[in-house]
Amino acid sequence: MEKDLLGRGSNFSALFTVFALVAFLFTTASVASAGNPINGAKVYQENCATCHGDKGQGRGGPDGWFTGGGMAYGKSNISDAVGNTLNDQNFLSQTSDDFLKQTIVKGRSNERMPGGLVSGSDVDDVVAYIRNWQKAASIPVTDDTVWANAGAGKELYLESCGECHGKNGEGIEGFSPALNDQNFLDVASDDWIRQTIQRGRTSSVMRPYERGNPLANVEMEPREIENVVAYIRTWDKNNKPIPGLNN
Ligand code: HEC
Ligand code: HEC
Repeated sequence: MEKDLLGRGSNFSALFTVFALVAFLFTTASVASAGNPINGAKVYQENCATCHGDKGQGRGGPDGWFTGGGMAYGKSNISDAVGNTLNDQNFLSQTSDDFLKQTIVKGRSNERMPGGLVSGSDVDDVVAYIRNWQKAASIPVTDDTVWANAGAGKELYLESCGECHGKNGEGIEGFSPALNDQNFLDVASDDWIRQTIQRGRTSSVMRPYERGNPLANVEMEPREIENVVAYIRTWDKNNKPIPGLNN
């Protein structure tokens, strides 16, 4: 069982993984998540793997097209249970433990991502387990407001994003996450959204939009990406509306 859990093929490598986890805990205690990733693995497999995949590869849509990772389950295993790719390096490198914790505790308000599945120290433990998938260096993200032209952003959004995320950011159940979700907008800063659009989620169908990125289908100028961010923020009901940007 533990072999499957850790995704290793032999007893030796399973043992090695356990050693590596323990070594990781001791050597990186000051930067690593406070939780216990060994318990976190158990909590994750019991509560999260059905939707997010056993290795955080995400899951869902016909042939796993939602994330590209669902294929790991085989073509016949198509399920209504879908969830974002959590082991994506672009996602992990820009996402804080607090973002993960809040999302796990509160879920998303559309309830496609149920909150309250785990509580207490299990939350820290599952965050520590997810954090172990991160190989890329962390990238700083600010809380600063992006001041840009939401009207111009709306046009870009409808051209490049609406087909997948819905005309009003409502997402498409079983395919793409909602961007107008209040719990999402509470945790995701403007800069976090901006960087997600810039680099995409390269283990999923969510392409990067930054100019010059070879994986981009559509390239945008930095200012255009900021305009899209400003438009997405107009869906945030808790935020003070940005003067002059709501058209
Ligand atoms: C081909 C479909 C597609 C297009 C086009 C697309 N996205 Fe996405 N997007 C996705 C999927 C699928 C995900 C979830 C990826 C994953 O598994 O993590 C995603 C994730 C995101 C996220 C992270 C949401 C979250 O819950 O963390 C943001 C923000 C986002 N997209 C914004 C945009 C914007 C803005 C555009 C247009 C510039 C865009 N996307 C275009 C499919 C798409
Ligand atoms: C019933 C399916 C389901 C379960 C169970 C589930 N999730 Fe989710 N999760 C989702 C969906 C779907 C989303 C994207 C929300 C949307 O579509 O708007 C998501 C989003 C997330 C996100 C945000 C990812 C991003 O790209 O911004 C995190 C983090 C997350 N889930 C972690 C977990 C953890 C940890 C567990 C277990 C404690 C869990 N989820 C259980 C379906 C699920």
